[in-house]
Amino acid sequence: MFQKILVAIHSREQRRGPLTYASQLAKGFTIPVVLLQVSPNDGVPSVRQASDLTEPAARLSADHIPVQSVTETGKDGEDVLCTAEQYGCELIVMPPQLGTNGNGLSSVAAQTLRSTQVPLLLVPPGSASIRNIIVSLDGSALAEVALPYAEEIARRLGVPICLARAYQPWMMTMAGIEGYAYPGSTDLVAAETEAIDYLRGVASRLAALGQPVDCQALKGSPAKGIVGLAARTPGSVTTLTTHGRSGLARWLLGSVTEEMARSTSNPILIIPHKFGFKYAQGVTELVQQTPLFARLREKELNELSQVARIRTFASGDLIVREGDEGDEFFIVSSGRVDVIKNVATPEEFRMGILGAGDFFGELSLLDDEPRSATVRAAGDVECVSINRVDFMDHLNKHPQTAAMMLPALARRLRRATGHSVGE
Ligand code: CMP
Repeated sequence: MFQKILVAIHSREQRRGPLTYASQLAKGFTIPVVLLQVSPNDGVPSVRQASDLTEPAARLSADHIPVQSVTETGKDGEDVLCTAEQYGCELIVMPPQLGTNGNGLSSVAAQTLRSTQVPLLLVPPGSASIRNIIVSLDGSALAEVALPYAEEIARRLGVPICLARAYQPWMMTMAGIEGYAYPGSTDLVAAETEAIDYLRGVASRLAALGQPVDCQALKGSPAKGIVGLAARTPGSVTTLTTHGRSGLARWLLGSVTEEMARSTSNPILIIPHKFGFKYAQGVTELVQQTPLFARLREKELNELSQVARIRTFASGDLIVREGDEGDEFFIVSSGRVDVIKNVATPEEFRMGILGAGDFFGELSLLDDEPRSATVRAAGDVECVSINRVDFMDHLNKHPQTAAMMLPALARRLRRATGHSVGE
């Protein structure tokens, strides 16, 4: 997901928050940091002094984070984006007011936000550490593109997730206009119920995360509701996808992301909208290439792609744990996993090795019993995952997938009963 972080810093006062967050993420993901000093052309003279990179670099090194300092100085958002691309950074961290004395969004940050091709984390100077991930959702598939990022960060840092949806019946926006009655309570109640049901559905898909997931339906506009929630939640990072509106749509609907970035005084992680299309395309391709689904028609493959997700794991990650409740089914798309009994005990032994095209995690979904073994990533692993409800629903509608699973299940049974000559 993230291989390298670019931290763009300016003055001494503004760098503490971004550096603390970058260091926490670099440790969680075990990845290096690239430091870039930015001295904007439009900077207020009093803060235009150069920010020496020696001290921040030493601070990161002391935390055992590999760090590289860029020798040239950036002048604007373009330089930040070019440096990120040049150094292969998949995440940019910077203060929202980079180069100014005031609040809101500096021109460097606004320019970076509008044009970035990689996720951008804006961290105000005083932010202490990441303790909660708020995901701003509006019910669209595009907004849900932020979910895998939030999920991975929550898992790596061991912090809870809060799913938030602002609800606002369109009539409410007319309330101040003469002749338009304020909507009856049933409209608001219906909008709230819909928001809560939607959030609960998303939360059930995150059940395998192993971290607490909270749901918050907030009345009013997203910019007000979610910014308020972030302000009440200490150590929160609000994650959201840009909708990439341009032209008339941007003029009419505005950019919620920019409005939120301007009005919040808490950290905000912005996922560019193009990731939505790239991600959806990636899932569809992986589902289409999965041998288990070889007998499905295009329409069925597309339906499955809607509910499937890409999950990535690093070497040693325990993807499922023996004895846990099972909520998710996995297909390995690249890499290798070990299936282990009695992990981390003197009786530990490996029952099997699974590679690209193989599946696991089906047993506890089929018999409702705890996980029969631990599955551990042996190197970098990418999987397609489907939650219990969607997977069982798929098997009920398409028994041909169940039939495709039978040879592997038979092999596993033979191994378990000692009637196998090897897998
Ligand atoms: P589940 O019990 O849900 O979680 C652990 C998974 O390990 C299990 O489903 C199977 O997918 C997988 N598994 C169990 N036994 C074997 C085996 N002998 N060979 C390969 N995979 C196995």
